[in-house]
Amino acid sequence: MTWTHNFDESPDAELKDTLRRDFHWGFATAAAQVEGTWNKDGKGESIWDKFCHTPGKVKDGSTNEDATRAYDLYKQDVALMKSYGVTAYRFSLSWSRIIPLGGINDPVNEKGVDYYNNLIDELIANGITPFVTLFHWDTPQALEDRYGGMLNQEKYTPDFLRYACLCFERFGDRVKHWITYNEPGVYTLAGYAAGVHAPARSSFRERNAEGDSSTETFIVAHTEIVSHARAAKIYREEFKPHQKGQIGITLHGNYSEPWDVNDPKDVEAAQRAREFEIAWFADPIYGSGDYPASMRSQLGSRLPTFTDEEKSIVKGSSDFYGMNTYTTFFVRHLDGEADINDHLGNVEKLDTNSEGKSRGPESDTYWLRTAPSGFGKLLHWIWDRYHVPIYMTENGTTAKGEHVKAPPSAEVLNDTFRVDFFHSYLRELARAVQDGVDIRSYFGWTFTDNWEWAAGFEDRFGCTWVDFESEEKTRFPKRSAYFLGDYFTHLIAEG
Ligand code: GAL
Repeated sequence: MTWTHNFDESPDAELKDTLRRDFHWGFATAAAQVEGTWNKDGKGESIWDKFCHTPGKVKDGSTNEDATRAYDLYKQDVALMKSYGVTAYRFSLSWSRIIPLGGINDPVNEKGVDYYNNLIDELIANGITPFVTLFHWDTPQALEDRYGGMLNQEKYTPDFLRYACLCFERFGDRVKHWITYNEPGVYTLAGYAAGVHAPARSSFRERNAEGDSSTETFIVAHTEIVSHARAAKIYREEFKPHQKGQIGITLHGNYSEPWDVNDPKDVEAAQRAREFEIAWFADPIYGSGDYPASMRSQLGSRLPTFTDEEKSIVKGSSDFYGMNTYTTFFVRHLDGEADINDHLGNVEKLDTNSEGKSRGPESDTYWLRTAPSGFGKLLHWIWDRYHVPIYMTENGTTAKGEHVKAPPSAEVLNDTFRVDFFHSYLRELARAVQDGVDIRSYFGWTFTDNWEWAAGFEDRFGCTWVDFESEEKTRFPKRSAYFLGDYFTHLIAEG
């Protein structure tokens, strides 16, 4: 099926050739969501393997044992991506596929290394630039069992650094874009504050047997920030001089708008919410070099403190701002003292504002609504506060009505809801570039429908529809995949 897209009219006509010639565009994925082959070819167990084999944890009761079988089908996937016209592909490495038990003295699984070497070679042979994430949430289960994973900064850090170095050594001759952590914030908020993701810890005993949302959330974040910085330091000192790549971190962050723009307390609450969500990680790395004052004043000593040595390596430890964002919320202040388990900044997040305006049309994912104007504001907020080049590393949506039986109808594949999402967000991105914001990449989330963590297979984020019932996990391109190719051809300067 083919669809044609025309961008000759306003406002698209004014955005032609706005993006730099070397702008990268493509799709992002994560190992645990696509690879499958979860316990073969030497791969060790990750915390997500354990999580999804624990009854009651995943919405549809599914596991990621097969996922989209990207491990087996990578050549087919690279060919399909090439047919969409991508210039880059962001994927993550599975730590427990490379070092099954994860630790500094544990053996390497050469079959795992081979798989990533083959994938990288296949991408490069097809003119697609690899962007590689070291950690996209799938901590080796053995490290969780040995010492509590990231709760134990002292024991965890050498294990992570050995893994990082091994990856630089084995893949760094061809990989020039490294991301240490994907969304350290969501890892800790969902895994240790809410307890709805692996490793499933929180203060809520009806859900989790162990954990303390009021402290562990911030301890794990601290471990992530400092170990990111140590990995970046090693890369810069020992690998960058000859490999000549870049290294950074990818942060999550949705935009917060005041619920009532005329109430100074809501205006302040929205700013505080952005600080709790984004500046928590970004201020230490790109800004003041420390956690935001708003967090310190609410959390006191429950928020860890950077030692002088940590501070000196954390600040400036990322060559770029890796940015994942999806939506916008309205934020209303709460009166009185914050709850002990609060991690939002003592605010309430709402779908409508004081005038009853909705934050955007609903997708198939409860938290996600199309909200392009908040995205535009967020790009400016991040640029104004940190002033580092932005690499958009994830953005995308689900759409209602896509969870159907195979084969999907022409109507399902003509995913106009997702096309409208991408179109409206990319207009904002191009306008921000016209305003002087330095943006260098865009990765749609995601290439194919995949295993969406605790939501299982029901939340379909792909620009390619996947028949999960079939042995071959048959792929069916959706219109949005071609839309992105056409629109980037229009937006990226020629030459
Ligand atoms: C991000 C995450 C992805 C994907 C996406 C959609 O937070 O990095 O792995 O799940 O959200 O929910």
